[in-house]
Amino acid sequence: MKQEIQNIRNEAIAQITRAKSAEELENLRISYLGRSGKVSQLTKRLSELSDQDKQEAGRLLNETKNIIHKTLSEQKNLLQDAVRDWFDPTIPGEKAKIGSLHLITQAINEISEIFTGIGFTRVRYPEVEWDWYSFGSLNFAKDHPARDDWETYWIDVPDHKKFGPMLLTPHTSSGQLREMERVKTPPIRMLNIAKCYRRQSDVAHTPMFHQFEGLVIDKDINISNLKGTLDYFSKRYFGPKRVTRLRPHHFPFTEPSFEVDIICDICLGKGCKLCKEGWLELAGAGMVHPTVLSNGGIDPKIYSGFAFGTGIERVLMMKTGLKIPDLRILYSTDLRYLKQF
Ligand code: PHE
Repeated sequence: MKQEIQNIRNEAIAQITRAKSAEELENLRISYLGRSGKVSQLTKRLSELSDQDKQEAGRLLNETKNIIHKTLSEQKNLLQDAVRDWFDPTIPGEKAKIGSLHLITQAINEISEIFTGIGFTRVRYPEVEWDWYSFGSLNFAKDHPARDDWETYWIDVPDHKKFGPMLLTPHTSSGQLREMERVKTPPIRMLNIAKCYRRQSDVAHTPMFHQFEGLVIDKDINISNLKGTLDYFSKRYFGPKRVTRLRPHHFPFTEPSFEVDIICDICLGKGCKLCKEGWLELAGAGMVHPTVLSNGGIDPKIYSGFAFGTGIERVLMMKTGLKIPDLRILYSTDLRYLKQF
C-alpha cells in the first residue's frame, strides 16, 4: 500500500504540474481528492491493514493529500500569472502631477524677501475691517468724496460704536493704524500684504486683488528715506536700471503725497511706443499725515514716517511683461492656464 500511495502522489504531481487550464486542474482535483477519487479509495482500504501498517499508511495518505492540495493551488497561481499583462520595467513611467505655487504667491514671496531683508516685518491684518481703520483714522472725512475712489463693499451689519460701519478692506493702508497700535513706540517697519476688495470687475480689474504696503515710522524719517526704499525695491525686483521718480499727488492720509513712477525698461526714460512718456505708474506713497500718527497714538512732533502701497498683480505684470488678456483668469481654476507657471 505504501508503494501505491507513493505512486499516486508522483503521478498526481506530474499531471498537475503539466495542467494547462483551470478546468483541467479541477478535473484532476476530483480524480484524486474527490469523494470517489484515488486518495479516497485508498483511505477506504485502510481498514484492511494491520494496526501498525494502518498508522503509517494513514500518515502517508494525509501527507499526500496535502501535497496534492498545495500543488493544485501553486499551479493555479502559475496559470493566472501567465494570463496577467507582462510588466515591462523599461517603459518610461508616467510623471506624477505635482503642483506649483500660484503666480501671485510667487510674487508675494519675492516681495517679502526683498523687504524683510532690509528690516521690514511682514504682518497681516483683517480683511473684514471697520471704517475707522480703512478710512476714518486715515483722515477721510465721513462724507468726503475721496472715499468714492475706493469702491468699497460695505457689510450689512449694525455699526460699531467707535469704529463705524463694517467693510471689506479696499486697501492695505488699513494696516497702518493697526500696526501703530501693535508696536506702540516706533521704530515701525511694516510690510502688510493682503487681499483687498473693490467693486470692480472688468478685463483689468478683479473684485479681489492684492496689495503690499510699506510703513516706516521713526525719528527723522524724511522723503529721501522713502525715495531710497522705493528705488531699492525697484532695482531688486525689476532690475538694476529701474529707478523711480515721485510726482505730486493727493491722498488724505499722507502729506505730501506722491505717485511713484518707475522708469520704462525699453527706453529708460526717453519715451517710446510702449510707455509714451518714459515712465510707468508704480505706486501711491507719501509722508504719513500728522493726524494719522496722532490717531495711532504716536506723537507727530517726535516721529515722522512714510508709507507706500501698490498692487501685487500690477508689479507682477510689469516685471514679467506677462500680458494677461483678462486679469480674472488669474483667479479662475483653469489648470491649462495655471500649469504654465
Ligand atoms: N492706499 C493707496 C491706494 O490704495 C495707496 C497708498 C498707500 C498711498 C500708502 C499712499 C500711502 O491707492
